[in-house]
Amino acid sequence: MLGIGDEIKFVGSDFNAFIDHTKNAVILDDGEYAILSRDSYVVKSILNEEEVAKPITKIEWDSETSKKGGYPHYMLKEIYEQPQTISNALDLEPSGLDDVVEMFEKAESSYFLGVGTTFYVAKYAQYIFSELAQKYIPPISSDEFLTLANVNKKTLVFAMSQSGETFDTLSALKYSQSKGAKTAAIVNVMGSSMARMVDEVVLQGSGPEICVISTKAALSQMVVLTLSAMKLGLKRKVISKKTYQENLQSLKELPAIIQGILNERSGFIHRIANKYCKNKNWLYLGRGIYYPIALEAALKMKEVAYVHAEGMPGGFLKHGTLAMIDDEISSIVFVPPKEKKDLYQSTLHSIEEIRARSGFVLGIHFTEQGKNQDLFSEELILPNVPPLIAPLIQLVIGQLFAYFTATSLKRNVDKPRSLAKSVTVG
Ligand code: AGP
Repeated sequence: MLGIGDEIKFVGSDFNAFIDHTKNAVILDDGEYAILSRDSYVVKSILNEEEVAKPITKIEWDSETSKKGGYPHYMLKEIYEQPQTISNALDLEPSGLDDVVEMFEKAESSYFLGVGTTFYVAKYAQYIFSELAQKYIPPISSDEFLTLANVNKKTLVFAMSQSGETFDTLSALKYSQSKGAKTAAIVNVMGSSMARMVDEVVLQGSGPEICVISTKAALSQMVVLTLSAMKLGLKRKVISKKTYQENLQSLKELPAIIQGILNERSGFIHRIANKYCKNKNWLYLGRGIYYPIALEAALKMKEVAYVHAEGMPGGFLKHGTLAMIDDEISSIVFVPPKEKKDLYQSTLHSIEEIRARSGFVLGIHFTEQGKNQDLFSEELILPNVPPLIAPLIQLVIGQLFAYFTATSLKRNVDKPRSLAKSVTVG
């Protein structure tokens, strides 16, 4: 509730006004005051109380729009907030991170836990912990945890959740605690049920995520988990101090690189999304750590655009799915940088298999690979980046592609059908 003398700052202008209850009016700072009611207004001079004629200017946005900071949807706003969110996570390293690394070190067995997007974050974590810390930690989708996990007093269960209120994840944690396991979680909402119930919490501090579709919270979790894997790798002497520092430097470059991509590639992605928005079936392919990226990018497409998108490791193709390739199925392939030689070669191989059957391939790849119109039906070329952060950059492309497909199809982006921000029922 505003009080006497309170200052009102008008969004997007230097103009100020003050509340004056004695006049029952809003004092404007050019010597006038306005008396407003639901359907009329009058502006008077403070000096002589005479009415001042003021033209009406129709403002094309409402308060909801102003909260979106000028973006048409929260989803786009939150995608664009990612450089800041990641910088925050790296500058103010979340408390609890070192303790969680210690817990991983001590545990005899560990699981990653999450559902929906956070299950794909958990899958990403599995790859990055394996690569940087040589620690094999299986991810389990929270809804499958009770029938699959073997937990005891020496187990660590590490959950990922934006809201901290997801029923399936909370149930899996409760079950783990009942078996005496240690629990930890990375969450975005301080004071949430999950943050309060686990033994150790990592608060990622990504700020409110309003859109039902998770973007910035998931990417930030991936960054924090990469940092955790680096710390564990250093502790376990899997990586040297020098490699740790190089990796840290790569992570620190991430915000500026994402900003550059948002500035320079969004228009192109918008055009491609618009051109192919009527395609009804997509295969999202990635190998190695690009596999969880493909899964998560495909989920974005399904949940916001309601377009069938199936994430799959490239190697799976030849075990059955190739039979589906025809002009009704399009593929999007997340190609790793050339430095990841084996992964790069095997990814190209998957593309060739699709092209040999005249399948459509949208390739997302890096500048060093040059233009490759023979290989791809369409290509999105990204600047060369350190390999550690390349998958994270590819995910931003997946987010934008889903967003622009959804807007081209006129979907209800911030409140898509059949989806709630936090799923609190079993
Ligand atoms: C993400 O875009 C979805 N809204 C959904 O898959 C979500 O990630 C899942 O329900 C888990 O939510 P949480 O991160 O809040 O636990």
